[in-house]
Amino acid sequence: MTCDHRCVPRGQSVTEHEGPIQPGAISAAAEASFANCDAERLRILMQSLVRHLHAFVRDVELTEAEWRAGIDVLVATGQITDGQRDEFILWSDALGLSMLVDALAHPLPTGATESTVLGPFWADRSPLRDYGEPIFDSAAGEPTWVQGHVRDLDGRPIGGAELDVWQNDATLLYGVQDPEAPEAHLRGRFRTRKDGSYAFLGVRPVPYPIPDDGPVGAMLGATGRHPWRPAHLHMIVSALGYETLTTHFFDAESAYLESDAVFAVKPSLLRRFVRRRADDPERPPSVTGDWWSVENDIVLAFNAAES
Ligand code: BEZ
Ligand code: FE
Repeated sequence: MTCDHRCVPRGQSVTEHEGPIQPGAISAAAEASFANCDAERLRILMQSLVRHLHAFVRDVELTEAEWRAGIDVLVATGQITDGQRDEFILWSDALGLSMLVDALAHPLPTGATESTVLGPFWADRSPLRDYGEPIFDSAAGEPTWVQGHVRDLDGRPIGGAELDVWQNDATLLYGVQDPEAPEAHLRGRFRTRKDGSYAFLGVRPVPYPIPDDGPVGAMLGATGRHPWRPAHLHMIVSALGYETLTTHFFDAESAYLESDAVFAVKPSLLRRFVRRRADDPERPPSVTGDWWSVENDIVLAFNAAES
């Protein structure tokens, strides 16, 4: 069945209609064009998209030049996007959409560690490393002992949980951004011990700018926003029977906590990095000078579908 999405009032033919078509009729016709879409969810998405897009155009009284500039931005976004870089996701991040979709998709129970954005620098198949191992061969940053426990909402340890971790170096760069960096630089996967504990040697993360040499960067510059993210370390934590958690923890003393370019800071994810000296008896074996330590406990929510 074809859809009746006419712009002229019902009962009149296109040729009978007199006078200019009203803008409201155009919006109604565009929305109605999806009325017979058999896939219900797709119909809901497309009709709502049309309603909101048309409302936006009315709200700001969009000019033709602005409409053209918007199309040009979309074209430029497509042109800069490739297998390594997704400028569309960066738009979603920089407009707060990624965080909103994540918040709606993961309404976690109180007490569970909160989620945040994945970001573009995660890499597949990071090496599985042993408890306490470094995630680098050599790094520019200050060595940091990261440790914690993975537990459930009742406080029971989760042994055998996997933590996939990645972070940037004092150069500001993630391993995947740095052609000089060895494979798997500053990333790795760890399994928790029976008591839920994990530990590894990373470096103290530093604030860095999101990629700002493309359309998103141009938008940030034109609107007086900065591209910086506060210092953080990424983790994906997974275990059978539990919701997989994509999160970061943030250096509680970092710059930009109040103005993260991608709106990903949640107060519950701030952690204190503790200054440790070279003569500290707990100094990890591969560290020679001063170092830092940070505790990051994780609480996973039960996955009703799996348990
Ligand atoms: C990140 O944390 O790696 C990141 C997240 C969103 C956009 C850019 C970078
Ligand atoms: Fe990051």
